[in-house]
Amino acid sequence: MDVEKVRKGFAGHFDGAAGSVYASPGRINLIGEHTDYNGGFVFPGAIDKGMVAEIRLNGTGTVRAWALDLDEYAEFGLNEQDAPRQQWAKYIFGVCREIIKRGGTIGGFDTAFSGDVPLGAGMSSSAALESTYAFALNELFALGIDKFELARIGQATEHNYCGVMCGIMDQFASIFGKKGSLILLDCRSLEYKYFPFDPVGYKLVLLDSAVKHELASSAYNKRRQSCETVAAAIRRNHPEVEFLRDATLDMLNEVKAEVSAEDYLRAEYVIEEVQRVMEVCAALEKGDYETVGEKMYGTHKGMSKQYEVSCEELDFLNDVAKRCGVTGSRVMGGGFGGCTINLVKEALYDGFVKEAFSAYKEKFGHEPKLYDVVISDGARKLY
Ligand code: GLA
Repeated sequence: MDVEKVRKGFAGHFDGAAGSVYASPGRINLIGEHTDYNGGFVFPGAIDKGMVAEIRLNGTGTVRAWALDLDEYAEFGLNEQDAPRQQWAKYIFGVCREIIKRGGTIGGFDTAFSGDVPLGAGMSSSAALESTYAFALNELFALGIDKFELARIGQATEHNYCGVMCGIMDQFASIFGKKGSLILLDCRSLEYKYFPFDPVGYKLVLLDSAVKHELASSAYNKRRQSCETVAAAIRRNHPEVEFLRDATLDMLNEVKAEVSAEDYLRAEYVIEEVQRVMEVCAALEKGDYETVGEKMYGTHKGMSKQYEVSCEELDFLNDVAKRCGVTGSRVMGGGFGGCTINLVKEALYDGFVKEAFSAYKEKFGHEPKLYDVVISDGARKLY
């Protein structure tokens, strides 16, 4: 994260004293995709890439913000009707509004931010931005909001200001991240456990297809809708089923005739994925990375064939991984483009990367991007 760029950018755009500097990371997710809004488990970790923002209160009711990477400026008030036009500014505005809705008293501020989480790569650049401002404003205005609520503020920003009906995983990981540990999170109760992750002899690497699909947010919301429709159908026979997380494949089969074939497939994926997270957890306790990898391939298959959120490029990268003997590989995050996450034996790493780069380039005309995963701390004040 480029702190110097932010400090220089802030000083260049705003006269006077320096502000405080805050940072929040993006995230990876080992397994548990599209389970969060189904009340299920996820297994994310914060990474060493994220957003950095310098912020100084300005004593007015106006926010003046610079997105340094885009070289764009936005200025907006804090009332509902003051929503800015730029997408990036909506994240900051949304966080302010969600704080105010919860009774927090905040005022205007001057800010400049920059990030190194690749946009649209499935590493949650938006959650990193939301968490940075939620965390910072909570401190700067001494609001006393707890970390769980800070994560919910980021999530509500997506729902109410950005049109994405996301779960809590990304914002939770960005706020609660801990160096060297993944987080096993129950997305219903928000109970969580840090899981030290040090797969000796293996590397975790992301391959970014560098594909961003249009309309990803409407397709995402549609998946969520399918899950809720099926959960409601199951609930008629089994009132205890709040989310698909509570359902079994038997329960799903009971309503097979009542739901569409598409919704059935979506729900089948989710029910199996919730189970896979638990199996990965048990395997990790034993250091059994072969099973972890096998489940990752299972997730990919499910996301590709049942949930249908993969794409040609990601399926291709997954096939290359299989061919190279990579232990586990799958599309990561919401899907519709972005990265695969790969668990690779160190001895195979160089060969795999070489093969993935050349095969991908031959097929799609450009290379994928590679990111080594360093599991890092969550939202924090830097200066
Ligand atoms: C996006 C959402 C998350 C989660 C993942 C899929 O990253 O923001 O809430 O649903 O997709 O697991």
